[in-house]
Amino acid sequence: MEGFGTTIFAEMSQLAAETGAINLGQGFPDTDGPGEVVEAAVAALRGGHNQYPPPSGIAPLRDAIARHQADHYGLTLDPDTDVLVTAGATEAIAAAVMALAGPGDEVITFEPYYDSYAATIALGGARRAVVPLRAPDWSFDPDRVRAAVGPDTKVLLLNTPHNPTGKVFTVDELSFLAQLCVDHDLIAVCDEVYEHLTFDGHRHHPLATFDGMAERCLTIGSAGKTFSFTGWKVGWISGPAQLVAAVRTVKQFLTYVSAGPFQHAVAEAFALGPAPVEASATSLQAKRDRLCDGLRTAGFDVFVPRGTYFVTADIGPLGGVDGLEFCRSLPARAGVVAIPTQVFYDDVDAGRRIIRFAFCKRDDVIDEAVERLASMKGL
Ligand SMILES: Cc1ncc(COP(=O)(O)O)c(C=O)c1O
Repeated sequence: MEGFGTTIFAEMSQLAAETGAINLGQGFPDTDGPGEVVEAAVAALRGGHNQYPPPSGIAPLRDAIARHQADHYGLTLDPDTDVLVTAGATEAIAAAVMALAGPGDEVITFEPYYDSYAATIALGGARRAVVPLRAPDWSFDPDRVRAAVGPDTKVLLLNTPHNPTGKVFTVDELSFLAQLCVDHDLIAVCDEVYEHLTFDGHRHHPLATFDGMAERCLTIGSAGKTFSFTGWKVGWISGPAQLVAAVRTVKQFLTYVSAGPFQHAVAEAFALGPAPVEASATSLQAKRDRLCDGLRTAGFDVFVPRGTYFVTADIGPLGGVDGLEFCRSLPARAGVVAIPTQVFYDDVDAGRRIIRFAFCKRDDVIDEAVERLASMKGL
């Protein structure tokens, strides 16, 4: 793991804590999810759910996840064999990649990529092959994807809606990727933690719903992102029984199980139905517009996201040439923390001028951040 050091999120959140800067770096909301769900966690703690839960996760939560996939996407899952509860989506990604790709194998992913992808592929001893998403629309060149597939390729690791760009992969793009997986016998590991956070009528489509994919696709979700409880670290993975069994085999030696009381609470969160999640997406769209307008006023070139709670921006118009340097000095110059995306690229130059801001924050926090950025001191 040499070369992986401290994650950029830890570095930038520490910088925010030390300087008192507004933290638009790390992706966590500054308001909690529904109060009933917090009460359900308290009830689970007081109700004696404090010992190891079952290795696959508690039955009511697995049932709720299977029902969610059926109701939203028409996917049929057996909650006993096709669903596994994990310690956040992070563990689901790690256990899936380690289960499916080892030394000598290759995993294809798009860059910029969520930072745990590179680390987790390395932990498994596999290699990564990276295909760029190109600003400003974050499209990809299908020929580059085809060229990236080789004899050792085992897994396509896909993230849609995509962090950090906010791209929501289109039906045409997903059809192409599905056909590629079928043609080359690849397993898709799909990180869909922002599945419900899409804007302007853009809809998320799970790769598992495309022809030939249900039997070769693992789909990952997160209560942290869907219900705004990032600190609880409850995630899940679903797909065909044989693949889920392979992931479970790895997961049992990573954490064995994840926090029992919170699993009960997340089952209650699913029982609230889609309304709270839809309200959260509507509110986030307004926050996105608030932050994008402010960033433009401050002089950034803004790439408006279609999903997630992140916006990326080019620092070039402000005279910035290096996002890492820019973000390290931003707390002192403007009292705001952002994330340089170059750390999510193999081709560092491609992301050198692009930085990421999170807008899952209270309106007054966004307004204050925007005001500070507008009166930012020079580089
Ligand atoms: C794309 C992506 N996948 C996974 C995660 C991690 O999710 P969890 O907190 O459930 O482990 C994040 C968190 O920011 C993310 O952005």
